[in-house]
Parts: sequence; C-alpha cells; structure tokens
Amino acid sequence: MIEKKIVGEKAVEFIKDGMTVGLGTGSTVYYTIMKLGQLMKEGLSIKGVPTSIQTEQLANECGIPLVTFKEINHIDVTIDGADEVDPQLSLIKGGGGALLREKIIARAAKSFIVVADPAKMVDYLGAFPLPIEVVPFGVEMTNKQIRLLGAETKIRSANNGPYKSDNGNYIIDAKFPNILDPVTLEQKLNMIPGVVENGLFNQMADAVITLNADKQIVVK
Ligand code: 5RP
Repeated sequence: MIEKKIVGEKAVEFIKDGMTVGLGTGSTVYYTIMKLGQLMKEGLSIKGVPTSIQTEQLANECGIPLVTFKEINHIDVTIDGADEVDPQLSLIKGGGGALLREKIIARAAKSFIVVADPAKMVDYLGAFPLPIEVVPFGVEMTNKQIRLLGAETKIRSANNGPYKSDNGNYIIDAKFPNILDPVTLEQKLNMIPGVVENGLFNQMADAVITLNADKQIVVK
C-alpha cells in the first residue's frame, strides 16, 4: 500500500546520527526500517531496540545494530504503527500482537512518533477490536472479566491453537462499542488479574504522520 510507504519513509526525518531508536512492528514501520537500513549504508549511525522478534529479524537483515535495555538508559525516538488513532492521538495498537513490548519501548522513548495511513484515523476508538495480552493461566476467567466491561471477545487463534505472543502469552481481541473514555478503560483493563497489558496507548504519541484527503503528508 503506497500510503504506508509514504508515511513510513517520512518518519526517518525524526532520526539523527547517533540516536538509539525504538523500532516498531508492522507493515507501515517496515518501510521506516527499510529506509533506515538504506541510510545506514550511506553513513547514518544508529542503534535499534526492536519491539518484536519479527522486527529484530528485519533490523538484522537491514544491518541495524541492536541493543537491549541492559546497555542503554533511554531511547531517543520510537517509531511505530497503529491500528486506530483518535483526534487526541490516543491509539489502539497490537493488531500484530506486539503491544506489550511496543508499549514498554514507546514509554522508554523521549519521543514517540506514530506512522499511520489515513484509514487508521478515526473519530472514536473501538471499531478495531482492542488487543489485550493475558497470561495463559485462567484465560477463561480473565476473558469473563473483560466481557463484564462491555466487550465481545475472542481469544486470538493461530494455526495450531491459541496465538502466542513473543512473551508466551495469549491475546484476547475485545470489541467494545465506541471507546469514549480510553484513559479509564486502559486502567480498568490493567486492573484485571491475568491481564498483562492492553493495546490502548493514551497520552503517549508525540506526533502522528499521516496523509490528508489530498494525499499530502501531515504531521499531527
Ligand atoms: C503491532 C501493531 C502495529 O503497529 C499495528 O497493528 C499497525 O500495523 P500495520 O502498520 O501493519 O497496519 O500494533 O502489534
């Protein structure tokens, strides 16, 4: 999709020589990572912190050296995609199942930049089912507790049973009606025993790169 390439590649303008960069997961930030790989061949020097095993492999292929939190105190900029973005720049993330590492790495960054094709821009969050990472133990009970908050839920499945995140956990996809108060919902979900993290990213994004109706790049 050309929109993903345009916004993904635009994000490299936020990266300067010597930075430690959080590398998101998904088909939009893929273009950011590919472009960073190309710029490194032309002399840019950065280090990356990957948000998933998939991104770790891509960064290795692109020649981006990787570091862990044992070696660094902070991340300069994290760039990542989103499944939905509302006008306050609250996000739903985790369509690719990487939400836990994504949230840790976004929080650790001085600046968190989101790359989102125009289809991701919504008036209210919630048309996209909210991914929630849960521990496998007691998943049926955790699922019931999430439903009590008003969601229809599905335990995400893969080819041979439940989908497993890079952390060995399950993902419950929770379809809420319009999410009018994402801050409260984020907190309520994380108070349920068994929930590790949910895909609401509130008051985290510093900027969102997208396209307007005339297909021009805009930074919100
Ligand atoms: C992965 C994510 C992705 O950033 C999100 O699903 C958007 O993906 P894409 O850029 O492929 O549309 O949160 O966990």
